[in-house]
Amino acid sequence: MNKLLVSLFLLLGVVAQTRAADAVVGDPLVGQAKTAVCGACHGPDGNSMAPNFPKLAGQGQRYLLKQLHEIKDGKRVVLEMTGMLTPFNDQDLADIAAWFASQKGSVGAADANLVAKGEALFRGGKLDQGMPACTGCHSPNGAGNAAAGFPHLGGQHADYVKKQLTAFREGERTNDGDTMVMRTIASKLSNKDIDALSAYIQGLH
Ligand code: HEC
Ligand code: HEC
Repeated sequence: MNKLLVSLFLLLGVVAQTRAADAVVGDPLVGQAKTAVCGACHGPDGNSMAPNFPKLAGQGQRYLLKQLHEIKDGKRVVLEMTGMLTPFNDQDLADIAAWFASQKGSVGAADANLVAKGEALFRGGKLDQGMPACTGCHSPNGAGNAAAGFPHLGGQHADYVKKQLTAFREGERTNDGDTMVMRTIASKLSNKDIDALSAYIQGLH
């Protein structure tokens, strides 16, 4: 098979995958009714109070839906949610993602001692180590890129962000795909870098 054909097949594969996941249109109000069980940890509108439970409010719909499928399938292990998504079909998950995406995310306060270092890393990356700035994908205000599936980070709990960056670095969270984009980036981050970035992100909006 020639190269062109191979790339065409790859491209079609990607398009088909995207279509299958995006074909189901979620309804936020139908979704709200299915989230009673989630509120205890994530907050009724997705603004969780506990620092280790991620905020879901205002998160991009495409990213949310991807995580829901992967948590359900066990590709991303969330012990606290074991079995919880089993009763939901693709339509239910799309409705749930639409509900949380439609809510307004709250913002926390950033630790003043860590903000300058966090901001420098977030906006400038580590050029000497080939690590790009976070802003390229997560945008300067942390809003992410909903259409591309790059998650919204601004206002997220520092404890949760720290746990994710560490998990990517240690290879415990592997659902960033074949490109390993977050595992590669996190491999350049020290514990102090992660503390500073997490503190900065918590206050970012
Ligand atoms: C007992 C607490 C608990 C309940 C109830 C719960 N979750 Fe979670 N959820 C968590 C924790 C903890 C994480 C993050 C785990 C980690 O650190 O990776 C998480 C992660 C997520 C994520 C990924 C967020 C991100 O930013 O990547 C989504 C989406 C999610 N939950 C949706 C739901 C939905 C929908 C429900 C209800 C059907 C639900 N959760 C119920 C504890 C809970
Ligand atoms: C080239 C694009 C790109 C760059 C640059 C990038 N990220 Fe990401 N990031 C992603 C993608 C894509 C995901 C979602 C992976 C998935 O689908 O699970 C992600 C996920 C994350 C998550 C998990 C969010 C959640 O709710 O669980 C955090 C935290 C994060 N990135 C922080 C950062 C930080 C900090 C930087 C800079 C040091 C950075 N990212 C740079 C693309 C990028």
